[in-house]
Amino acid sequence: MPDTITITDDRTGKTVTVPIEGGVFPSSALRELDPSLFMYDPAYMSTAACKSEITYLDGANGVLRYRGYPIEQLAEKSTYLEVAYLLVNGELPTADQLATWNHEITHHTFIHENMRKRFVDGFHYDAHPMGMFVSSLAALGTFYEGAKDVHDADARHRQIVRLIGKAPTLAAMAYRFSVGLPFNYPDNDLSYPANFLNMMWKIGPRYEVDPRLERAMDILFILHADHEQNCGTTAMRVVGSSQADPYSSAAAAASALYGPLHGGANEAVVRMLSEIGSIENVPAFVESVKNGEGRLMGFGHRVYKNFDPRATIIKQAAYDVFEVTGKNPLLDIALALEDAALSDPYFVDRKLYPNVDFYSGLIYQALGFPVDMFTVLFAIPRTVGWLAHWQELLNDPEQKISRPRQWYAGVDERNYVAIDAR
Ligand code: CMC
Repeated sequence: MPDTITITDDRTGKTVTVPIEGGVFPSSALRELDPSLFMYDPAYMSTAACKSEITYLDGANGVLRYRGYPIEQLAEKSTYLEVAYLLVNGELPTADQLATWNHEITHHTFIHENMRKRFVDGFHYDAHPMGMFVSSLAALGTFYEGAKDVHDADARHRQIVRLIGKAPTLAAMAYRFSVGLPFNYPDNDLSYPANFLNMMWKIGPRYEVDPRLERAMDILFILHADHEQNCGTTAMRVVGSSQADPYSSAAAAASALYGPLHGGANEAVVRMLSEIGSIENVPAFVESVKNGEGRLMGFGHRVYKNFDPRATIIKQAAYDVFEVTGKNPLLDIALALEDAALSDPYFVDRKLYPNVDFYSGLIYQALGFPVDMFTVLFAIPRTVGWLAHWQELLNDPEQKISRPRQWYAGVDERNYVAIDAR
């Protein structure tokens, strides 16, 4: 059987045959047939918009790999900063490379005082931390002269380490502002997750980070670091393709992540579980979802149609955290909901399984984070995924400015009618 596809234009009888490689064929086949012909593909359900070497995802078999390494091995053996190096550079670092990388990141954690005092202080007291995080990312770019030098590899590297280093600082700053607490400066002697927890929770001179919670935070960061061409990463690539600076592009990506169908789902899950309130209400809630009254948040995925490997790891991490913090009372409702959905033909037939957001919110809540912070906690580690894709895009000679076509379905030409004649 040849690895080709042949398309015939029945209007003209013209035929074109193109190769299928890795399950993909080039859409240039259509242009060859008729340059004015386009495919209609809302939400890019059948479109691969780039070649990527960063993350491999097999939705049918629940496989996720960063640069070839299975997510399970990375979550067990690696650290977030090592994974960040891997995603950006393509290979695991040597000990020396890792030491240099860690030093670079931990020495780019501070933000300009004006960011905090002038920019952040302008927010309303009850501003959503994710709205603050999105705007802070864009604002940060105005502090760095080289931010726009997107074709200079050294300048790009500087922005990459700055953004990875400062993402936790921006996140903690948004939280401290929202609860009226003074900002904690970064402590560069701490690990990446411990520094973040310290900036979040330290009140007074000392805060001891429990190593088990530090590790749980790092695992959550690893699991959220990248997920190929999701909505946020696509936003990063689309905006980055106009050669905008990475801070503005990352702000666009974070905006996409903010939505409840994407990174906002972890927040929506905890709100949903709280509304369900008790195990007895689970069957009625499941019925309401089946009747079209809302979705079961934290369930379903565009790509995973079997299980989300991140959900499996997170479920285990949740138990490790609960050993320290005590069980989240919403856990029993979540387990009952999962059981009810997984044995219900509505969810089974549609291949709807728990995704990464189903259990992550329960961990965040047990760690003491308010619900409003959950999507910010997703955004911190995803920053590296956005940047790895941004860099790949800029180095890809096949890429141009993103500019899809449309199927015009509006009215045909008509003449302007004066207002008194309408
Ligand atoms: N609850 C109930 N029904 C659902 C759900 C859900 N969570 N998800 C999908 N369906 C149904 C949907 O109604 C449709 O049914 P029908 O064929 O009868 O019309 C069918 O399943 C297919 O759904 P779809 O909307 O076409 O699927 P999609 O690939 O466009 O959407 C999704 C994927 C993740 C947006 C969706 O499953 C969803 O809204 N889930 C809830 C939100 C959520 O948990 N999002 C986090 C995703 S993972 C992390 C991330 O991406 O950030």
